[in-house]
Amino acid sequence: MLRQSIRRSAAPLSKITRSAPSTQLRCLSDLSNDQKTTHFGSKTVLESEKEKLVGQVFSSVASKYDIMNDVMSLGVHRLWKDHFIRKLDAGARPGGRPLDFIDVAGGSGDIAFGLLDHAKARFQDDKSTMTVVDINPDMLKEGEKRLLDTKYKNDDRISFLVQNGEVLDQIEDNSKDVYTVSFGIRNFTNIQAGLNTAYRVLKPGGIIGILEFSKVDNTVVDLAYQNWSKFLPVFGQAIANDFDSYQYLVESIQKFPKQEDFKSMIQEAGFYVPEPGYENLTFGVAAIHIGIKL
Ligand SMILES: C[S@@+](CC[C@H](N)C(=O)[O-])C[C@H]1O[C@@H](n2cnc3c(N)ncnc32)[C@H](O)[C@@H]1O
Repeated sequence: MLRQSIRRSAAPLSKITRSAPSTQLRCLSDLSNDQKTTHFGSKTVLESEKEKLVGQVFSSVASKYDIMNDVMSLGVHRLWKDHFIRKLDAGARPGGRPLDFIDVAGGSGDIAFGLLDHAKARFQDDKSTMTVVDINPDMLKEGEKRLLDTKYKNDDRISFLVQNGEVLDQIEDNSKDVYTVSFGIRNFTNIQAGLNTAYRVLKPGGIIGILEFSKVDNTVVDLAYQNWSKFLPVFGQAIANDFDSYQYLVESIQKFPKQEDFKSMIQEAGFYVPEPGYENLTFGVAAIHIGIKL
């Protein structure tokens, strides 16, 4: 898997060197005997190919990331993220602060900066650390660009790591207090492996918080939402000259497990999931799942 570790203060993202053979190529050859398939949107692809295909999507949309999210959610993703951050802190572990946060698939930095802002505003906490992990260097570059516009630009509490969230082999076992993944886990090739890894890196008492597109629980809203979704690739073409990536994003939402099924996967990883297990946002267009490593 990708092994570039980017300490912002030590190595500007613009100077990332990509060693050959690339991770994607290495993965393909490692897994050449593995004929297992998975979905890439509505297509069936080899598991070994999915990482590369998802990488292409996010490299393509990285520079238009905000527009993409605003179009896909009509701007509501900002409210969902704010709510997610508040909810996580409301349930923060009793061990107190500072905390070691890890935000996986966190390229944009939205959740990472939001969690630190909230920690400061609510707990006067300016000691907690944040590791932002993403498989895609282009997305992490966007996150670092944004960092320069925040008060954290000279703050070495934030580090960036290019790595696959299914593996996180540069993150020690039992080392993090709060693990977040926002609109990222549905892109993992093996979602269960990602959840198992989250369990591994969290300390006992640590919390996992997942914000993800989900299944609408209201027939009328669902009909409107399905119709709206059909236009998203068209908007993608008009705004970002990219029909296919937006088509993938819509299909990846459709393929993501139902709330109850996803709750079971979180439990399967070992987490205790407080009832009811998830909170639907906007009739289930998105949902927040919380689990605790006991
Ligand atoms: C829709 S963006 C979400 C970014 C951010 N978390 C947010 O909420 O704005 C999805 C991100 O997941 C990342 N991603 C996809 N598969 C991944 C994996 N296996 N491990 C880590 N990151 C992954 C993509 O590179 C992309 O940056």
